[in-house]
Amino acid sequence: MCEHEQKGVTLWFTGLPCSGKSAVADRVAERLKDRGYRVERLDGDIVRRSLTRDLGFSKEDRDENIRRVTFVAKLLTRNDVFVLTSFISPYRDIRDQSRQEIGRFLEVYTKCSLDECMRRDVKGMYKKAIEGKIKEFTGISDPYEEPVDPEILLETDKETLEESTAKVLAKMKDRGYLE
Ligand SMILES: Nc1ncnc2c1ncn2[C@@H]1O[C@H](COP(=O)(O)OP(=O)(O)O)[C@@H](O)[C@H]1O
Ligand SMILES: [Mg+2]
Repeated sequence: MCEHEQKGVTLWFTGLPCSGKSAVADRVAERLKDRGYRVERLDGDIVRRSLTRDLGFSKEDRDENIRRVTFVAKLLTRNDVFVLTSFISPYRDIRDQSRQEIGRFLEVYTKCSLDECMRRDVKGMYKKAIEGKIKEFTGISDPYEEPVDPEILLETDKETLEESTAKVLAKMKDRGYLE
């Protein structure tokens, strides 16, 4: 039985490595599940070990990664699931294509200074990138194109995880996706 009338939407998290995409998306997903909503998470680290494990980090491969994810997000969204994707997704034009394709789409920009991302360095990747051990690393040796007008702007170097989470839920409510 459905507890809620639920209209699907994709929350598309984008931002630099260590900017907080996974952390906020996980927390929001938890909150939504607790409230009885159908939720699916598509996270870069997991998807790149499964659906797109054949791909690397050239522009071509990054774009193909996002195209496949977009396909899955579209199917889930039209079946009225809340989809939370967390991919760096550095290219604006490809994010805009995902928006067009998926339709019900809220872009969530986890804005965070490069200094703070490098300080967090959750997986030690910035260190390796600076040492030249990882090529094509976003923020260091590969571009990141900031969203121009995201539906949700999180400043994760100024807010707590709780505050960022609350902002996302508030926007979902505001847009009529939550009761
Ligand atoms: N407001 C905030 N929002 C999200 N993450 C935060 C925030 N403040 C601190 N953090 C921390 O920053 C880190 C972000 O890492 P992660 O979510 O893995 O980044 P990404 O998925 O973007 O690479 C986590 O350790 C998280 O706890
Ligand atoms: Mg992540």
